[in-house]
Amino acid sequence: MCGISLAKTSEETVPVIARAKRLDQIPPYLFGEIAALKRKAIADGRDLIDLGIGDPDQPTPGSIIDALAKAATNPETHRYDETNAGWTPFLDAVSGFCKKRFGVDIDAEKEAMLLIGSKEGLSHLAWAYIDPGDISIVPDPAYTVYKVNTLMAGGDVYTIPLLPDSGFVPDLSRIPEAVADKAKLLWLNYPNNPTGAVAPLSFYVEAVAFAKKHNILIVNDAAYSEVYYGDYRPNSILEVPGAKDVAIELHSLSKSFNMTGWRIGFAIGNAEAIATLNKLKSNLDSKQFPAISLAAAHALAQGDNSATLELYTRRRDILCDGLNALGWPVTKPQATLYVWAKVPEGYTAMSFSKLLLEEAGVLVIPGVGYGEYGEGFVRMSLTVMGDKNGERLEEAVRRIAALKDVFPNSGA
Ligand SMILES: Cc1ncc(COP(=O)(O)O)c(C=O)c1O
Repeated sequence: MCGISLAKTSEETVPVIARAKRLDQIPPYLFGEIAALKRKAIADGRDLIDLGIGDPDQPTPGSIIDALAKAATNPETHRYDETNAGWTPFLDAVSGFCKKRFGVDIDAEKEAMLLIGSKEGLSHLAWAYIDPGDISIVPDPAYTVYKVNTLMAGGDVYTIPLLPDSGFVPDLSRIPEAVADKAKLLWLNYPNNPTGAVAPLSFYVEAVAFAKKHNILIVNDAAYSEVYYGDYRPNSILEVPGAKDVAIELHSLSKSFNMTGWRIGFAIGNAEAIATLNKLKSNLDSKQFPAISLAAAHALAQGDNSATLELYTRRRDILCDGLNALGWPVTKPQATLYVWAKVPEGYTAMSFSKLLLEEAGVLVIPGVGYGEYGEGFVRMSLTVMGDKNGERLEEAVRRIAALKDVFPNSGA
């Protein structure tokens, strides 16, 4: 009976199994109130424009689906993947993609591995490196996975703020030497969720020098590297000479090719870190359905997501131009699916999100959900279900413009 306590109800005795204490480390869910309001709006039959979740609304390009259908007819794909880090065609495609896109040479055998989506790789990197008392340096605001998994692994989080005045790129020189010397991991994410910010290559140069000085592994989350606008192309940290000594970079096909449900991504970079992550993972999972990895190989070699990027560009312009015109200043992102906007005077992230939901039927995410430095901001996603050509974003702008108490000069 060890670990089982018996709680009595009036009718029977029900065993209550105490969950692992590490789960108590997970910070409270801050979107609960917004989620409840969303449910109510839907139950009331309101026409909600949901700019919340960053999940591509467009289908996966047809040629990738065809590649999956073909690969699935090969019985070899029906069995366990007993390779070291993924099927060779997939790892070769990863290597080819890195060369073509970033000019970076990746040894497909030692410097690349398959992931079941980048979230899986990110969370397991924390588990592979963080012991109780170890330090992770984590940006704020940020995708919550870096912090939560560090905490669950018993580590400590040292927060580096991402501030508007420095383009949401952290100032590494402000990290105390004692913290830097003790830290094991530095988490970075550009193009950035939630701020939509991008980092210049010069920042990566600084980060690599910092990591070498303090013997830290950089985990660069590049999940949005292929969601970009105009002529801008995000860099890989591995373009920095010597970066492979201290950096591992995680990529995803989720946002690049509208494949969030397929669960496929990859890690590239430092061979030791790849082997370490692989050691942990080989005791946790058995990789992905190989047919999915063959379809992903096709996507990396010749997939075309330009139609979706054109649609995002149109939506971004409609939303940003529209909000700027009504008197809510917002910056157009150069990459990612997100517009990160400061809330008007007198509101908090949460109170303004509630107002938008209740008065305009527009759902946005309060920035505090991504950390304390997200206070005063909201995140709006360009992935809008049911939007064919930007008309739902036009409607969102019209409804926001009609909030006369907030935007008296909107002209609506
Ligand atoms: C910054 C960031 N990294 C990683 C992921 C995970 O993507 P996936 O696990 O689908 O590859 C997300 C998903 O929203 C994200 O926003």
